[in-house]
Amino acid sequence: MKFFVDTADVDAIRELNEFGLLDGVTTNPSLIKKAGRNILEVTKEICDIVEGPVSAEVTATDADEMIAEGRKLAKIAGNIAVKVPLTLDGLKACKVLTGEGNMVNVTLCFSANQALLAAKAGATFISPFIGRLDDIAMDGLDLIAEIRQIYDNYGYETQILAASIRTVNHVKDCAMIGADVMTAPPAVIKSLANHPLTDKGLDAFLADIKDAGIKIL
Ligand code: E4P
Repeated sequence: MKFFVDTADVDAIRELNEFGLLDGVTTNPSLIKKAGRNILEVTKEICDIVEGPVSAEVTATDADEMIAEGRKLAKIAGNIAVKVPLTLDGLKACKVLTGEGNMVNVTLCFSANQALLAAKAGATFISPFIGRLDDIAMDGLDLIAEIRQIYDNYGYETQILAASIRTVNHVKDCAMIGADVMTAPPAVIKSLANHPLTDKGLDAFLADIKDAGIKIL
């Protein structure tokens, strides 16, 4: 499973990248606002840190403007994935931009039929939002499973990028279902390493190292 981090915080991206945990980055207008940075500048900085796909979202809602914005974003670096919303105009822009050799991430997906359309439009990634479905008492993981089945039925190569992940269990469940990629906030990715028995075991080992004076270097 590929790990993308869902943030425009350059320091957090650099830290996770140094752990060797990052396969890519996703941003959106809310994350750019939170970072308080110019979208073109911060996206360029992120692309210089991470080798894998960096999703940068268009601001327009009309297909022609989305295409123009997508072309401008794609010029920032070779690893840009242009992010477009799952609307009919977004799908049209997806078709054109992928036809020109760009990666496209179709975002704000909340149904299996929307994901089917994105695959037909040639999307590189489809981003189903799990957490936001859970927020309205639906099951986001059911959506991931439905999309997995549909894509496998027809051999679509669009990668399922599980988004709006809120918990470590979301990550595990998406991996069990077979999502190709997950994107999560930095804190969720770091929490994947936590286990109380790891902490307890390490404390005991450290005490024995001290008592026995064990040294390697
Ligand atoms: C994905 O690309 C989105 O940026 C993101 O996962 C949205 O998550 P949220 O629902 O927590 O805002």
